[in-house]
Amino acid sequence: MDRGRNLFPRSFKEELPLAVRAEGLYIYDEEGNRYIDGCSGALISSLGHGVREVTDAISEQLRTLSFAHPSRWRNRAIEEAAEEVASVTPGDLNYVWFVSGGSEATESAVKMARQYFIEKEGEGTSRHLVIGRWNSYHGSTLGSMAFGGNVPRRRFYSPMFKDHPKIQTHYCYRCPFGLDYPSCDVKCARELENAIKITGPQYVAAFIAEPVVGSTVGALVPPDEYWPTIRDICDKYGVLLIADEVMTGFGRTGKAFGVDHWNVVPDIMAAAKAMAAGYVPTGGVFASEKVVEVFRKGSGVFVHGHTYNGNPLSGAATAATLRYMKKNGLFENARMQGEILGEALESLVEIPIVGEVRGKGLMRGVEIVSEKVSRNPFPRAKRASAVVTAECIRRGLVIYPSGGMVDGVDGDNFMIAPPLNVTSEQVGEIVAILKEGLNAASDILLTAPV
Ligand SMILES: Cc1ncc(COP(=O)(O)O)c(C=O)c1O
Repeated sequence: MDRGRNLFPRSFKEELPLAVRAEGLYIYDEEGNRYIDGCSGALISSLGHGVREVTDAISEQLRTLSFAHPSRWRNRAIEEAAEEVASVTPGDLNYVWFVSGGSEATESAVKMARQYFIEKEGEGTSRHLVIGRWNSYHGSTLGSMAFGGNVPRRRFYSPMFKDHPKIQTHYCYRCPFGLDYPSCDVKCARELENAIKITGPQYVAAFIAEPVVGSTVGALVPPDEYWPTIRDICDKYGVLLIADEVMTGFGRTGKAFGVDHWNVVPDIMAAAKAMAAGYVPTGGVFASEKVVEVFRKGSGVFVHGHTYNGNPLSGAATAATLRYMKKNGLFENARMQGEILGEALESLVEIPIVGEVRGKGLMRGVEIVSEKVSRNPFPRAKRASAVVTAECIRRGLVIYPSGGMVDGVDGDNFMIAPPLNVTSEQVGEIVAILKEGLNAASDILLTAPV
């Protein structure tokens, strides 16, 4: 019997294996085959699978209080989770608005920025635009796509939303300005000032960006001057800075948050994924004292909400996840293993289709090219990142593919991002399989006709 016949799947054309069980770094299919979860799902399962401390805390919460509507009840689980989150967030980002995922987190952050100006300047404030970046992803809802810049994911829907201004991203391997670092003087960051001036600062509420670009360009790390420059420009024009830490948050890059690498404190931060490590759908918006003070002294009410805001299960899962991370020193392990992984991945550049290897901590990316000197991508029809992924999965390693970052159509990359408690032996195993998979994909892609 076809057991999946009532599902509307991600793809009607692709036959996926059936996952039946997962433990630690590994996922097992129904035939008992073991796969290394080399990308933690989509940079979610940062503790690995089946951690008893977390599943027990969630079970206990389910038995005592599974739900209490946030407009009528407080609950202890979410209050404890907020304390755990605030103990690791940068600077004075001490307040957590809980949601159920990344798109809800970025949209809530943007709505919070808009209402901040209403509270401050009155309902007639013109500050409503959110400057984003091309080649950045902030979610798949209509709102988050309007300020996001992942062209392949937004193309079908762009007639349906009101667009927001965009600047180019720090894509040094293919600099959008044709410049070289450091003589470029981080023009990609300085462009924000131009965009604010052209738009009119009185219309701009916020700027949003991923500290390290994730799903669109594959672990793209900015030059060191980038984030401090962006912070200065936002301050100069009274624009709120929103960091989208949905992928980078909670230790992924070897520090608690991506912005911690540059000692920048945003006004608002969005997070999800690793916050409850895939055990319960969870996300959050973290607000600074400056933002909260304006709400507190103003109407006192964020005109926004979802049924699952601050539900007790998210609370139990988040608190247990963060306690586990702290107890086991996972941010530090991500930094250490990230260095080992980064070094080992350098050897991949010998493979003909590997253009660049990049990343930070346990968030590493590989850009695939058809030819190294010209850096030309494969044409989309070759489905290069899909071929690499298939060759890795055949060998028992799951990676995170993406594409379209060169011109909105062509361009292939993938990420390697194992759970934060990965060991150096496991890192070695991952890189060995990856090498085999990439070599096999290289042979296929460079010989097969389009
Ligand atoms: C940086 C970033 N922001 C937002 C999102 C959206 O998160 P979700 O898929 O949980 O809605 C993602 C998802 O990959 C992401 O990587």
